[in-house]
Amino acid sequence: MLEESEKRNLLNVDDYQVLAKTKLPHSLYEYLASGTADATTLRENRDAFARWYLRPRAMRPVGRISTRMVLFGQGLSMPVFCSPAGVHALCHPDGECATARVCQDLGLLFGLSQHATKSIEQVAAAAPQSHRYYQAYILKDRSITARLVQRAIQAGYSGIFLTVDSVRFGYREADARNGFDALPSPHRLANYDEVRQQNLDQTYNAKTHLAWDQNSELLFEQNVSWKDVTWLKEEVCGGLPLIVKGIMTAEDAVLAIEAGADAIMVSNHGGRQLDTCLGSIDVLPEVVMAVGGRVPVLLDGGVRRGTDVVKALALGAAAVGLGKPLFFALACGGESSLKDMLEILQTEIEVAMALCGCETISDIQSSHITRHPGGHFQSRL
Ligand SMILES: Cc1cc2nc3c(=O)[nH]c(=O)nc-3n(C[C@H](O)[C@H](O)[C@H](O)COP(=O)(O)O)c2cc1C
Repeated sequence: MLEESEKRNLLNVDDYQVLAKTKLPHSLYEYLASGTADATTLRENRDAFARWYLRPRAMRPVGRISTRMVLFGQGLSMPVFCSPAGVHALCHPDGECATARVCQDLGLLFGLSQHATKSIEQVAAAAPQSHRYYQAYILKDRSITARLVQRAIQAGYSGIFLTVDSVRFGYREADARNGFDALPSPHRLANYDEVRQQNLDQTYNAKTHLAWDQNSELLFEQNVSWKDVTWLKEEVCGGLPLIVKGIMTAEDAVLAIEAGADAIMVSNHGGRQLDTCLGSIDVLPEVVMAVGGRVPVLLDGGVRRGTDVVKALALGAAAVGLGKPLFFALACGGESSLKDMLEILQTEIEVAMALCGCETISDIQSSHITRHPGGHFQSRL
């Protein structure tokens, strides 16, 4: 439970991170908050948003603002979703079940990581009416990748993310310094429990429990190709939309579509993979141009303000994801804090839309955004 004085200071998404820092163990906070190597991309995800500016429009009717949108036939209350990110239970005992319940209440899309601390089926049971997508990685044993996706289909998930930016794990100095290399007991990567019961424990949960990031890496296929995307789409997904997550160039966006992607997600894993790549918002224009309207383009990385959401939409994104803020809100005050934080973001989006003269999401256009004429920007760090 939050103190009244703590609640009063929670006015924007970043405020939840500031408070979470005081509540979480140092090594866990750093695991969640840090980037890889010099954290250039982590910082750039935020700074890049600050180099784009909105162009307000006046005297337009904005009395009935609606942030509602449709993605693959599902109505969502706003163009903000929960990006798939493992281990929510490190911040809240109900883990991803709690996050999915909040998404169900608010009408948002929830992404469940293959490396979640609650299983595909637990999350489906906790939030049966939620719009939920499952996120896969290509494992060395592709039959396990396929089995996990099939479980998601059976459990009523309505889309699949395939994360393609993690053939090796980013160089995480903070965790090495803090000795944060084990999934703390009693947490488990719940989706592997079935594999464990099949006596494959040596390769899966036992390994992922100790030094789990490093050992997870051993399970991931490094010899991947775009044929894996085609395989997943044609032979595994059972007609569900496949979103390829972790695209950072126009070239890969085109290849992903040719391989069968139904949507492209611009993402650098929140600065947790390749350091010194651009902030994701700066990559969005080249990807949108290359995609040419063939499929929706999603984005995550550094989204913290309603104005960030409007900027991404003005540059051509259909919706944007949040990663780290979910953990921080759960750590502050559980489900109610997460709900409050997402509602704050929705209010910010509504205000930004009104001041840009946009009553609906489809009113947000490229004419609403520009670069600063002098190339200046105000760093938010
Ligand atoms: C602790 C943590 C765990 C993550 N785990 C995954 C994962 O299992 N799969 C994945 O595709 N992305 C994962 N991500 C990346 C997020 O999906 C997302 O791309 C990123 O956090 C967005 O940037 P943001 O944190 O600035 O919002 C993780 C991110 C964090 C912070």
